[in-house]
Amino acid sequence: MTIIEELDSLKQRVLADISAAEDSAALEDVRIAVLGKSGTLTAYLRNMGNVPKEEKAQVGRAVNEARTAVETALEEAKKLLQQQELDAAIASDAVDITLPGRSQQIGTRHLINGMIDEMTDVFLGLGYSLFEGPEVETDYYNFEALNAPPDHPSRSMQDTFYVKDLSGDGSAVKGESDVLLRTQTSGAQVHAMEDCSLPIYIIVPGKVYRRDVADPSHLPQFHQIEGLVVDKGITFGDLKGTLDYACKAIFGPDRRTRFRAHYFPFTEPSAEVDVSCGVCGGEGCRMCKGTGWLELLGCGMVDPNVLEMSGIDPEVYSGFAFGLGVERAACLKYNVPDLRMLLEGDMRFLRQF
Ligand code: DAH
Repeated sequence: MTIIEELDSLKQRVLADISAAEDSAALEDVRIAVLGKSGTLTAYLRNMGNVPKEEKAQVGRAVNEARTAVETALEEAKKLLQQQELDAAIASDAVDITLPGRSQQIGTRHLINGMIDEMTDVFLGLGYSLFEGPEVETDYYNFEALNAPPDHPSRSMQDTFYVKDLSGDGSAVKGESDVLLRTQTSGAQVHAMEDCSLPIYIIVPGKVYRRDVADPSHLPQFHQIEGLVVDKGITFGDLKGTLDYACKAIFGPDRRTRFRAHYFPFTEPSAEVDVSCGVCGGEGCRMCKGTGWLELLGCGMVDPNVLEMSGIDPEVYSGFAFGLGVERAACLKYNVPDLRMLLEGDMRFLRQF
């Protein structure tokens, strides 16, 4: 076989190997075997010096022609394989854009805050202002200035958490400590009477605390809204008209109100207000224990003693006050049977409101 024939058959073999290469790595192996340092074609190029003079031109041309053919084929095969490999990678890494995304859970305003805003709005609409009192309160504001001196029986209904430690052993001792978590927003009445100029028309939403175990109708921490009016010539008629209007604005025009005589130490006379049951419309059902009425709030004319203790002349001024539990009001409005449901944070429950 002549060198020319050898070169030709080498070229044919290499071109066949190139088209048989299945991936870039196999192709690279073929390239090294032919054109690498000790490659088959490289050996012919190195040996050109040994080729007899008269054959040199012809062999040189054949070697170059073989090299060009191999390089072109390598280049084309490389492009093709790279494209195939890229296509395969895209196909295997594919993201299914038709899968539904994971949506962000966005919270909603809690029913309690919604009720507070709604009730506050009703009173702001009547010309009342928003007032705030401290949650950590002294015995004086929470009880004493509200006509409930130490040992007053009404205190036992509102046992609370005492804050100031006077015992020295880490436990607060009731009776010896006078800093506590307020049991009612009524103490804010005293702050308002001391701090605001007359007349006073205020609404006070806020948290209150009691040493109660949570059950369907009690919570150790809940919210109240307190109202206080002090002006000249305020009568029980103003109290009734205001609360009847507010109840209808909050619970709906078809709900009726009923005033029952009651006792609170800081009001005289005092009353409790019931609102007609929203479940049975007043007929009597399980929600209202057959009475047709649900107890909503406490109220009354501010006791002259209370006005006087806060430096207001009861001969010139009179006033009324009221206080209601927000959680309770929310349950009455939406017919929720258990106060604890408001605290569970179950979005399926909360999203209904
Ligand atoms: N503070 C009372 C309570 O927590 C509710 C209350 C009753 C507030 C009569 C008032 C009122 O302002 O006049 O039970």
